[in-house]
Amino acid sequence: MTPVTLMDNQTLFRDISIFESGYTPDTIRYRDNQLQQLAEAVRPALLGGCPLNTVIRGPPGTGKTTCVRQIFAELEEMPRIIPVLVSCQTALTVFRVFQRIYQTVFRQQPPISGVSVASLTEAVCRELSRRNAALLICLDDANLLFHDHVLDQVLRSLLRLHEEYPGIRIGVIVIISDPRLSLYPFLSLSVVSVFRPNEVYFPPYGREEVHAILRDRVRAGLYPDVISPGVLDCIAAETVKGTNLRAGIRLLKDAVMQAENDGRTTVTRSDVAAAVQQITDLHLVSIVRTLKEDERLMLARIAALHQTRGGDMISGELFRALHKQMPMCYTLFFERLNTFRNRGLIDIYRPPNRGNTRKILLRYDAGQMRAVCETPE
Ligand SMILES: Nc1ncnc2c1ncn2[C@@H]1O[C@H](COP(=O)(O)OP(=O)(O)O)[C@@H](O)[C@H]1O
Ligand SMILES: [Mg+2]
Repeated sequence: MTPVTLMDNQTLFRDISIFESGYTPDTIRYRDNQLQQLAEAVRPALLGGCPLNTVIRGPPGTGKTTCVRQIFAELEEMPRIIPVLVSCQTALTVFRVFQRIYQTVFRQQPPISGVSVASLTEAVCRELSRRNAALLICLDDANLLFHDHVLDQVLRSLLRLHEEYPGIRIGVIVIISDPRLSLYPFLSLSVVSVFRPNEVYFPPYGREEVHAILRDRVRAGLYPDVISPGVLDCIAAETVKGTNLRAGIRLLKDAVMQAENDGRTTVTRSDVAAAVQQITDLHLVSIVRTLKEDERLMLARIAALHQTRGGDMISGELFRALHKQMPMCYTLFFERLNTFRNRGLIDIYRPPNRGNTRKILLRYDAGQMRAVCETPE
């Protein structure tokens, strides 16, 4: 029988790196279709043509980056195509994007001073001609470039290069990870008419799928019997209920750490619940930090009203109650409610047949919300 307590130097992790965000899984499940479509977009480049432009859409944690990484890793071996993965989380300007492209093509940083986007593209294009290779650029989380027409400018520059450098072959994969946003309002007509991408969709995973993906990680990263199928199912259910697979992998790791810190060799449902609580707290704190002082105060008051009056809050009544404590106009009140909703702090419903009335629900526990809002940074 497995001992139930751990010695000081013992661990439940066979390999903890399997739960880190940079880990690439051996098997990518449920994405054969998407991988196939991406491979088809790449194929023309291997035959001496242009890669097809592609838009990948899907909510966070659905395997978009993982699939592109996998395809790009295979392309690393091929002589006639250079894949470049640009994470727009860190490349937020036109210059940064081109700097990243240069860096990947030449495997070194561009010169520090006196470089312009034009000089970087010129160097890259000359190198492509010299190597007779196509360039395939993936702009990951490209919705972060919607501001100030950055994405439009990047695409415009890339898609026009063949005019200036005849024979140049370039394809672009754009990943949009916010399902509420459409790409086209952010592009000018001239860019849209040249871009003409194929679309590949990444739907959220269901509970069974999450369960199977997490089971792979458990097998590779933990010692046997640390997690029972029942507890794993509980984690899968929390993942589907909560945010996404990325958070689910983190939850799995944190639950195991709870058990480990407690000196036990198996994870229980209470470990999972404790890990959920811990992650929710951290998440809430990180969102509340992004609010302005007045917004934070208003959220604290809403949470306090929720505590005294119970959960049923109607927009008009809420406005009147708040107005007594912090005078503001209705427009500002509603703008702030929308901010709270967009950051995932509350839900706003319109009950049927009630005119303009809205019902406000908190996404977090009211007491916890109030405590976080009232704690100075
Ligand atoms: N189909 C899958 N099989 C195995 N692991 C996956 C799969 N899809 C996503 N993951 C894992 O989930 C996490 C989030 O995936 P990622 O590709 O970063 O999502 P996205 O780019 O869509 O936000 C990563 O740790 C990744 O390894
Ligand atoms: Mg991603």
